[in-house]
Formats: sequence, C-alpha cells, structure tokens
Amino acid sequence: MKIAIVGATGLVGRNIIKQCERLLPNDIEFHLFASNKSAGKTLKINNQDVVIKELKSENIGKYDMALFSAGGVRSKAFAENFISQGSYVIDNSSAFRLQEDVPLVVYGINQNEITSSSKLIANPNCTTMGLVMALKPLHDTFNLVSMTPVAYQAVSGSGTAAVNSLKEEESLDHTSLADYKNGYYPRPIARNVIPLAGNLLENEYSDEEMKFVHESRKILDIPKLIVEPSNARVGVITGHGVFCSAVFEEDIDTERAIIELNSFEGVQYWAETLATPLDAENNTDVLVSRLRRGLSSPKIINFWCVSDNLLKGAALNAVQIAKYLVQK
Ligand SMILES: NC(=O)c1ccc[n+]([C@@H]2O[C@H](COP(=O)([O-])OP(=O)(O)OC[C@H]3O[C@@H](n4cnc5c(N)ncnc54)[C@H](OP(=O)(O)O)[C@@H]3O)[C@@H](O)[C@H]2O)c1
Repeated sequence: MKIAIVGATGLVGRNIIKQCERLLPNDIEFHLFASNKSAGKTLKINNQDVVIKELKSENIGKYDMALFSAGGVRSKAFAENFISQGSYVIDNSSAFRLQEDVPLVVYGINQNEITSSSKLIANPNCTTMGLVMALKPLHDTFNLVSMTPVAYQAVSGSGTAAVNSLKEEESLDHTSLADYKNGYYPRPIARNVIPLAGNLLENEYSDEEMKFVHESRKILDIPKLIVEPSNARVGVITGHGVFCSAVFEEDIDTERAIIELNSFEGVQYWAETLATPLDAENNTDVLVSRLRRGLSSPKIINFWCVSDNLLKGAALNAVQIAKYLVQK
C-alpha cells in the first residue's frame, strides 16, 4: 500500500506522520510532498528517512490514499490529480467540505457516509470537530435543536507562521507588545485574547464562525440546527476550547448526560479537574467539563469542551479515516 502525505512538513502534516506510525500497518510505503522550499529534505517515518518531493503534477504517481494538509489552494489544484490516478483523498482544508457529494467525516460519528464512490473525503474544521464529538452523544439522547458556541481558538490552528509569531511576541515587554504591528494576527496574541478568529465575511460573522454553522449541520445531519457562534483567538499554543449553551427537545438529566459522554469513544467527562488546553494537548480524546442544566430552561445544557486541534481536530481524525479505508 502507498500513502501520500501532502503538506508533510506542516504542523498538521507532522502529526499525520506520527498518527500513521501509531495507527497504520508498518509496511506502508510513504510519499511526502511539500513546497519547493522543502523539496529534497527528509523526514523520518517508521525510522526510515523519506525524501520530500515538491508538489507538482510530474511528481504525482499512483497511490492508494493521499492525506492533504497544505492549504485549500493546493487541495483545489491537486486533489483531482491524485484521484484520477486511483487514490482516495482525505482533505484537511475547507475547500470541499460543503460540497454535497463530499462526505464530511468525523470518525466515530459518521464514517458510514463514506460509500464505494467517495474518492474525496473532507476532514472538518478543527473547532467544529471537538464540539460535535461532545454534542453527538447528547444529541442522540436529548435531540439537539439549537446552540450558542463561544470558541477560544489556539494559535497553532493557524499554522507554523502563527506559532512562530506567538513565540516572538512572548519575548516582548508589555509596552512593546501592546504596540506590536508585525505579528501574524491584526492585534498581538501573546498574553492576549482577540475577539475574532478567522476572516470577517459580509454578514459580520467570521469564516471560522460560519464553519460552526454549516459543518455542524452537515456532520450531525440536523439541517435546521440553529447556531449562534462567536469565535475568539487566544494566546494558547494548542488546544481549542468551546463554551457551548445547547438547547434540546427533551428535558435534561445531567447525570445521564455525563454517562452518555463517558460512554462515547473519544470523549471524557472531567468532573474533578477542570479540563484546559494544557490537558488537551497531545490527548487524543475530547475533554468535557462544567456541564450544568440551563438556568432558564430544563432543556438547556451549558458545558465546556477542549481538544487538541492538531490531533482530533486534524491529523488524528484524518488517519482514523485512512485506517477505516484500509480495513474496508
Ligand atoms: N493547524 C490546525 O489546527 C489545522 C486543523 C485543521 C485543518 N488545518 C488545515 O491544514 C492545512 C495545513 O495547516 P498547518 O497548520 O499544518 O499549516 P502549516 O504548519 O503552515 O503547514 C503548511 C504546509 O503546507 C505546505 N505548503 C505550503 N505551500 C505549499 C505549496 N505551494 N506547495 C506544496 N505545499 C505547500 C507547507 O510546506 P513547506 O513547509 O514546504 O512550506 C507545509 O507542509 C491548512 O489547510 C489548514 O487549514 C489545520
């Protein structure tokens, strides 16, 4: 079996390599792609040095699968090139997520939507992925109607350049930091919270906020789900947190809700310790804390969830899908 990893040198790509080593058979032949800047360098997989190739048509051959995390522009330009030579493509970008004929898959929730004709499979947005993992067992029990998620998105969600910017900003004193104009984001992110994650759209919501709306509806198969999202960027390296107020059809029994969360593979309810991004980093599970029944209605649950945006939010889910395809 041959697997291509496109964007292998990035934050997500490097985690894809680790998850492939952990979850897939060790006799797979890996092919790594990145930009011309990385071509010729090597990365280790299963203790073997693999040379990185530049992503261009003449370098693309026949593979069983290609895992893309090199940005939407590269996905749009090259996915078809892999598919036409027989490869499945599992794409981490937002390029194809809302396309009707493309399954948007969270492993553990809706992998059954992958059919024999699905050659292109989209991996959801990292913030949505963590939240829907917590919502799925609650929805199956109480029937979700609407939600107000407020996200605290970590810097590694924006890639290597953003993490480098945070590290540089962290070394500045307070005055220089407040005036700092050369960072990755429009305002300094070190020791700070920016009340906007992603790019503002015409409707005054950001593209990251609208991903909550459209992707949650598609993954949970609730086309009329009402979503009122607000996403902030916080000076945390890894681990996206979400406070969510969710309204259900049924009255909530909080003990039952916690049992359902703990019985769902990939989710843990933390009752004694408050789950934080530091706990979520390198953790393959989504962590939930502070679950309470609503103050104004017995049909509301308020809770906090946090997950590693590079693992379940990206690389882990992509490799779980790859493993599912290998075993299919
Ligand atoms: N970070 C997250 O939490 C997260 C979560 C879900 C999805 N995603 C998505 O995953 C993708 C990668 O994110 P990331 O965080 O890993 O970003 P990153 O750390 O900035 O890495 C970007 C990767 O894309 C490659 N690349 C850039 N330009 C290229 C080109 N012209 N041709 C070929 N390869 C090119 C880079 O190769 P070089 O090193 O050679 O430049 C690198 O491997 C994005 O689409 C992002 O939206 C990210």
